[in-house]
Amino acid sequence: MGRIAIVTGGTRGIGRAISEALRDDGFTVVANYAGNSEKAKAFTDETGIATYRWDVGDHQACLAGCEQVAAEVGPIDAVVNNAGITRDGTLMRMSYDDWDEVMRVNLGGCFNMAKATFAGMKDRGWGRVVNIGSINGQAGQYGQVNYAAAKSGIHGFTKALAQEGARFGITVNAIAPGYIDTEMVAAVPPPVLEKIVARIPVGRLGQAEEIARGVSFLCSDNAAFVTGSTMSINGGQHMY
Ligand code: CAA
Repeated sequence: MGRIAIVTGGTRGIGRAISEALRDDGFTVVANYAGNSEKAKAFTDETGIATYRWDVGDHQACLAGCEQVAAEVGPIDAVVNNAGITRDGTLMRMSYDDWDEVMRVNLGGCFNMAKATFAGMKDRGWGRVVNIGSINGQAGQYGQVNYAAAKSGIHGFTKALAQEGARFGITVNAIAPGYIDTEMVAAVPPPVLEKIVARIPVGRLGQAEEIARGVSFLCSDNAAFVTGSTMSINGGQHMY
């Protein structure tokens, strides 16, 4: 049996492209999702990739979900923490729930999934953790104190966990996507998005596959000496 990878939020947008790329690399891929089961079934029919439903922001659900995957598919060798949500709004308008939910899912999800899988990787002496951060965690973004804080937290989490994993053959890296052509970015009001795109030197939104190629590299044996790094894939919008 080949290596097993789990991609959170792995049935749509960037996550779907990552699931497909890792499958093409020879991983047995499991895509976690939190939403619509009918859409997840359609995804499995189209891609041959199994799906498991749980909320990554729920600690116990992550432990139970990963245990189930290990029992039904096999031990998890690679985790891609991709699941993320936005609840945009200026601080003045943002509710505590909008703050808390984004921290719980986007940042808490990384902790929960790492807790559920790290010991197994350590025992087997090989592991890959790739956390999907954001340009907005690096540079900040008007109307996103919650999202920017969570994504910035992901970059710190990555560097700390990388130090813990290094001597066990576990690499931990982040990718910081810029504005990618997904439903999440399509939800930004068109006049706001136009101004953002005007500031991207490459002159367009990114494609989900352009993020997936980075994940594919970081999960490969070729990336064994890359750990604690952040790969910015943003069309030159923020050079960091
Ligand atoms: N800097 C300074 N001032 C700004 C500003 C900016 N970047 N953007 C807006 N303003 C000002 C406006 O000019 C306006 O000023 P006036 O009242 O004097 O005219 C004021 O702030 C209010 O602006 P809005 O009308 O836009 O305010 P709103 O309350 O209707 O909307 C918002 C606020 C929801 C945050 C909206 O601006 C928005 O959606 N912004 C985009 C946020 C964004 O980029 N989200 C990314 C989602 S995708 C993602 O997150 C993926 C990823 O990782 C990249």
